[in-house]
Amino acid sequence: MCGIVAYVGPKDAAPILLEGMQRLEYRGYDSAGIVVSNKGLKVRKCKGRVADLAKVVPARFKGGLGIGHTRWATHGVPSDENAHPHLSADQRIAVVHNGIIENAGELRAKLIADGVEFASETDTEVLAHMIAHAADENDTLEEAVRKTLKSVVGTYGIAVIDAERPGEVVVARNGSPIVLGIGEKEMFAASDVAALVRYTRQVVHLEDGELAVLKADGFHTFASDARETAKEPLTVDWDAGHYDTGGYEHYLLKEISEQPETITRTMSGRLDERFHVAHLGGLNMDARETRGFRRVKIIGCGSAYYSGQIGAQLIEELARIPSDAEPASEFRYRNPVVDPDTLYVAISQSGETYDTLAAVQELKRKGGRVIGIVNAVGSAIAREVDGGIYLHAGPEVSVASTKAFSSTAVAFALLALHLGRVRDLSPADGRRIVEGLRRLPGQIEEILTQSDKIAELAQKYATHASMMFVGRVRGYPVAREGAQKLKEISYVHAEAYPASELKHGPLALIGPDMPTVAIVPDDELLDKNLTTLGEIRARGGRVLMVGHREPEAKLADDVIVIPKNEIELDPILLTIPLQLLAYHAAVALDRDVDKPRNLAKSVTVE
Ligand code: AGP
Repeated sequence: MCGIVAYVGPKDAAPILLEGMQRLEYRGYDSAGIVVSNKGLKVRKCKGRVADLAKVVPARFKGGLGIGHTRWATHGVPSDENAHPHLSADQRIAVVHNGIIENAGELRAKLIADGVEFASETDTEVLAHMIAHAADENDTLEEAVRKTLKSVVGTYGIAVIDAERPGEVVVARNGSPIVLGIGEKEMFAASDVAALVRYTRQVVHLEDGELAVLKADGFHTFASDARETAKEPLTVDWDAGHYDTGGYEHYLLKEISEQPETITRTMSGRLDERFHVAHLGGLNMDARETRGFRRVKIIGCGSAYYSGQIGAQLIEELARIPSDAEPASEFRYRNPVVDPDTLYVAISQSGETYDTLAAVQELKRKGGRVIGIVNAVGSAIAREVDGGIYLHAGPEVSVASTKAFSSTAVAFALLALHLGRVRDLSPADGRRIVEGLRRLPGQIEEILTQSDKIAELAQKYATHASMMFVGRVRGYPVAREGAQKLKEISYVHAEAYPASELKHGPLALIGPDMPTVAIVPDDELLDKNLTTLGEIRARGGRVLMVGHREPEAKLADDVIVIPKNEIELDPILLTIPLQLLAYHAAVALDRDVDKPRNLAKSVTVE
């Protein structure tokens, strides 16, 4: 979950590394460091952000070969010493690493027994010492790295340089992404294309177990058994502009505001007005196969999992196929029964969440049919699945997921329509859903116009230490996502419950100090939801209601009214005001909106 950047070429590496690291800061931001090679290795690293590091990098920090790192701590607290790069005792080898070396304790003990002194508490430092030993015994750096990695158990994306070979970087991948960028007489590598698009759009993704040697005039890749591998460069769609804040104060606000366009892109070319179906060619499934599934099982982590709950509801309602969602992080550890008649759906914005990837691999190993709903094109999960739906939402930079969430929910509506129309969903209902989907972008625009009003409500409610979110059936995943958004960026404690469960326990918490955000769509459960509001108010609880109309009786202190769509699609719209509520609460509380404490955007470790 850290960010790696590497450069070799005719320019000075340091500014390129710092700029790339800034773009990767979403992956980790508790410390940062760079090393360049210029008659020996020159290192600067510190606890804090890339901007703090930039202040301590001298203007004359010259050298056309270097590697950089932004860290999200796993082994050892954030500190100057634990910041990467880590160097061998003789200062010859420098390593940056993303992932976890599981047998680091054992390797460290052996090195200490051999007299090695460690400068940090990290697992990564063992790699620097081991590669240095291997470099003494092998002719090439690539061979030294390859042999070292044979003793390593765990996940890694690494970049390594050697003071004695100042024209090359060696990178390797196992479970943590590494992308090569091909320039004009220069080469780059990074954990994510975000760090590369300013310089090149020609990229090569390494597979697990692959290594690469980068020199200014090119690269070659090879497997862990030293066999050369052949790689075709891909052209990435996004340019540097897609990674800017675009005049907004925060990436989060930009990404919330982009949703009318991003969900339009998710639907683009996929809706068919003639047969009222969705065309999803990427699923790689014919109609007969599509009809054959008897269950749908959805897996993902965090907000991806909550969007999967919305998806399961949509598929059950529109296609009448039993469906459910489960956190991928739980699924992979419970030895799941894998059934040939089940369609497995893995959701991931980044396409590299380790738990989701591992769950997909377990499913595939057992012969399961897995499709992906993924934003990052060419990512590990996208490459692992049998087919899928790309979101086309564009790069999501802020740690809190918003536009990927709504695009995933829309992708599920398309999937549900597709599965439904090869079964019993009538043409009339198909048309109703297609038309509803077409209305969504305009309706999101309308909700966004309420941003100022929601900012005032956020100021009022964010003064509480804790908030309850409730919703019923379609509204429950919306409540979960609303609570997740609020807690992760504003640090206000938030709990989500099915509204029906309140009286079975959590009602005991309700009182003047614990306001409730209630999701109350105008659907067949409206009366039940209004009864719940009455129960909350009877206990002195304040209510902020999100729904389609003001309740007749005074059952809510505040109401956010949003446009009505088809009942199956309403959850997509109901999440938007909750994103704004969390955003404005975080701003009111002066939080680091795009980089909340303790979190990182891509969770590439267990
Ligand atoms: C969302 O706001 C969170 N930051 C987090 O729960 C995220 O959705 C989760 O880590 C899954 O990420 P992915 O979609 O990239 O797999």
